[in-house]
Amino acid sequence: MHNMTDDLAFSAARVPIAAAIAAAKLAGRGDEKAADQAAVDAMRTMLNQMPMKGRIVIGEGERDEAPMLYIGEEVGTGKGAELDIALDPLEGTTLTAKAMANALAVIAFAPRGGLLHAPDTYMDKLACGPGFDDGIIDLDKSVDDNARALAKAKGCRIEEIGVCVLDRPRHAEIISALRKAGCRVHLITDGDVAGVINCTKPETGIDMYVGQGGAPEGVLAAAALKCVGGQFQGRLVFRNDDEKARAERTGVTDFKRRYTLNELVSDDALFLATGVTQGSLLDGVRVVDGIAHTHTLVLNSFTRTVSELRVKQPV
Ligand code: FBP
Repeated sequence: MHNMTDDLAFSAARVPIAAAIAAAKLAGRGDEKAADQAAVDAMRTMLNQMPMKGRIVIGEGERDEAPMLYIGEEVGTGKGAELDIALDPLEGTTLTAKAMANALAVIAFAPRGGLLHAPDTYMDKLACGPGFDDGIIDLDKSVDDNARALAKAKGCRIEEIGVCVLDRPRHAEIISALRKAGCRVHLITDGDVAGVINCTKPETGIDMYVGQGGAPEGVLAAAALKCVGGQFQGRLVFRNDDEKARAERTGVTDFKRRYTLNELVSDDALFLATGVTQGSLLDGVRVVDGIAHTHTLVLNSFTRTVSELRVKQPV
């Protein structure tokens, strides 16, 4: 009997909703740490009420640096399905602190062993939406070649291909190569989980996501694509020996390995995200007369369902 049922999805939805409401209370206050801590506290409280034997595989950090939701922490009531959990209670701490668009509370569940234990390093990421031949994009090819391949498969001009990239100096070459090839480059200041998911939504005009961001966010984005289709490749990036040591502790042996979506998420996945601030993917938390209005995306690869929940609750 598989354990990624709709019942699980229903009880799991309370987790990112609580985190989003807690973080949203601190939106625009300029305090990233306080917003993140509020989301962590709320997420942990709700997780511990879920009927499961949960284990965090991607969380707030290693045990010695994160007292809550650390990698390896057991969560849940201890009764029920054995699940591995990847989470980012506040994906977009700066976005929240500055009350900018697109901050999310994010969590993914998979049966034990179903998620890569990604270390807290960077990852080179490449993603596109569903409907293309397997391997149409390839992390080992140039970004413009990947964009050309998508244009050819779509039967459109490269000028019609939109590529989402984090606006960082380290991406200057990628951005210039894409623009030179004729692509439209959609720059985002933060939040590459939403950036990747947007490749699956034609109305965003984004066909491909490329660039370096957090490895934990890479696994979370891959979990979302596992549910809705699309392709994702990732390769860990190490800036120093400490990061390599972190990776070794999570079981990584091949530092140059290119992970496919099914290697990052090797079983069914349940992915949930709740909007914290207003965004392109989800509405943010809005409080009216003491009632918080929330918007949550629930993707389940087991039931093959995509749901959106609008939950109102007193705050
Ligand atoms: P925070 O929630 O820590 O602010 O991270 C947001 C984010 O933009 C991620 O979406 C992305 O993967 C990562 O930061 C990129 O890291 P950096 O800001 O170091 O370029």
